[in-house]
This record gives sequence, C-alpha cells and structure tokens, in this order.
Amino acid sequence: MPSQLRIYVPPHPLIKHWLGIARDKNTPSTLFKTAMVELGRWLTYEAIREWLPTIDVDIETPLTNSSATFIDPNTTIATIPILRAGLTLWEGCQTLLPLATTYHLGLVRNEETLEASCYLNKLPIKFKDDTRILILDPMLATGGSIMFAMNEIVKKGGNPDFIRIISVVAAPPALQKLSAHYPSLNIYTAMIDEQVNDSGYIVPGLGDAGDRSFGTN
Ligand code: PRP
Ligand code: URA
Repeated sequence: MPSQLRIYVPPHPLIKHWLGIARDKNTPSTLFKTAMVELGRWLTYEAIREWLPTIDVDIETPLTNSSATFIDPNTTIATIPILRAGLTLWEGCQTLLPLATTYHLGLVRNEETLEASCYLNKLPIKFKDDTRILILDPMLATGGSIMFAMNEIVKKGGNPDFIRIISVVAAPPALQKLSAHYPSLNIYTAMIDEQVNDSGYIVPGLGDAGDRSFGTN
C-alpha cells in the first residue's frame, strides 16, 4: 500500500500556550527562546510515543518480584538540529533523550533566492539501518531547508520510515515537497499555517525564528 505523509498537530494545552507566546511579536527574545525549548520538549514527548522500542524485564521491588518496561538499550537514536533555530528545539528534546547522538546541520537561506545552503555538516558517514532519527527545524516554509536536510540524511543511509520531523510551524509548500519525495515521513508540529509570503516568511507564522531565538536581526 503506498504510504502517505502523516502530520500530527498534538492538541496539547502546553503546546498551544508556548506557540502563542512564540507568535506574539511583543515576546522578548529570552522568552521566545524559552517557548522554543518548551515546544521542543513537548513535541518530542508526542513524537516518541509508540516509536521507541521497549523491553519487558523482571525486577525486584523492595517488596516483591515485578515486571518493568524499559526503553530498549540497543535502540540507536539520532537527533539532528537544523542550525540555528533548531538548536532551541533540540535543547528541549535532549532533556527527554539525553543518550541520543546529536549531528548538527547548519543551513541558511539566501534572502533573495530563498535557496538553502549548508555551512556545517556533522552527519555521520553512514547511519545504521535502524537508527531512529529526529530532525528539529522550527520552520518548514518554502521547504528548501528541510528537503536539503532530508536528501543529505538519506544519502547517509537514513531511512525515511524511521525519521520524524519536529517543527513549530509548517506551511503548505514544504509539506507538499516532503509528501512528494518522502511520503513515509511523520511530522510533529504545533501548527499548520496557511501560506508563505513573497519574502519566504510563513503567515501568520512567528517571524524569523533564528533571529528571535538568539536576539540577532
Ligand atoms: C529558517 C528556519 C528553517 C528555514 C525554513 O532558517 O530555521 O531552517 O528558515 O525556510 P525554508 O523552508 O524556506 O527553507 P534560516 O535560514 O533563517 O537560518 P537561521 O535558523 O540561522 O536563522
Ligand atoms: N524562516 C523563518 O525563520 N521564518 C519563516 O517564517 C520562514 C522561514
């Protein structure tokens, strides 16, 4: 059966709350960063539900024998923040997955052409076949950056069936590109917005996620 891109917008009050804070243009940079960290945490929490393999083990409590469920220690997890703005989501993500390996990918859009180019690529030479990969990129706008990232990750052996994307705001152009090229992906986002304007910004969006996260402009 052909697969179809799955986009989850978890109906969680904390996710709605922090998205509202991030969208508000009056939110100062330090609080904006906090919002992104929290969104990274709660979207990761949702994304790893029923995704991380577990094992059942017999243990002894102080009182008796019991069974317990643990995350399978043989599972390989990779987190890939797309710099810069993805670093803030990653900060929240890594509180839940402290043992995951982190591979940084630095991408920046040309403000005129909106084309993404890469200035840092710390991906491994080859991912193991069953590595579970979480990509963290808050804005899926024209889709140039996330397609660049996906193509690089797949070139290194990443399996789209095992990849989940965490974003804050996703827009139709990016979702259409991902759906056409990587239909087995799962995306976890705080919101799907209506459009991308002529300057490449998501509307209503939240502005420039990198600049607002790090207080630059
Ligand atoms: C932003 C954002 C995404 C990209 C999305 O990065 O963090 O990676 O734009 O846009 P696209 O879908 O049109 O490619 P930006 O290039 O502004 O870099 P920054 O995070 O360093 O600010
Ligand atoms: N990158 C951003 O930071 N914001 C947008 O709205 C689109 C791309």
